[in-house]
Amino acid sequence: WPYYSAVLVASYLCGSIPFGLLLTQYAGLGDVRNIGSGNIGATNVLRTGRKDLAAATLLLDALKGVVPVLIAWHLGGPDFVVTAAFGAFLGHLFPVWLGFRGGKGVATYIGVLLATSWPAGLAFAGIWLTTAIVTRYSSLAALLASLATPIILAIRSEFQYAEIFGVLTAFLWFKHSANIGRLLKGTESRIGKK
Ligand code: G3P
Repeated sequence: WPYYSAVLVASYLCGSIPFGLLLTQYAGLGDVRNIGSGNIGATNVLRTGRKDLAAATLLLDALKGVVPVLIAWHLGGPDFVVTAAFGAFLGHLFPVWLGFRGGKGVATYIGVLLATSWPAGLAFAGIWLTTAIVTRYSSLAALLASLATPIILAIRSEFQYAEIFGVLTAFLWFKHSANIGRLLKGTESRIGKK
């Protein structure tokens, strides 16, 4: 147990670095939480008009999921991977530095998924991209891709991973409650619009 707790806490701290907030503040754009949806993720950073910062946010928020999972894999195999994936993801959603009010978890989800099972990660990216290109809804793309992920992992007989990603998907959907409401009402903002 002490080892699992250490992996959980270290991954949580890694996941809790709010790159979207740090990058936009560093670029002098103010607090991204006062813009658009108020989220600290890449989609909302894009609403500042800075594509480069949005891309960097996506990459870094994904990397903070990739790194702890890869380290956990080398330290202790699948049980550690599950712990690290959970910790890093929760760190992004509920960062201690921001009063536990963090992001919605899409980039970090794909990061931990790619490092856990890269074919499932590629499938997530494919579903996300296809939905985003067809509908221009970033949130809908994430909702569908994350819904498919536990199913894809189960089909690949990666049952231990299917379980934990089912839990992460539930958190991701919960964090997208407002987006789901707007999607149902037809008022969700599309990528490329402010
Ligand atoms: O990455 C989060 C995305 O799914 C929705 O973001 O800012 O439109 O609420 P946002």
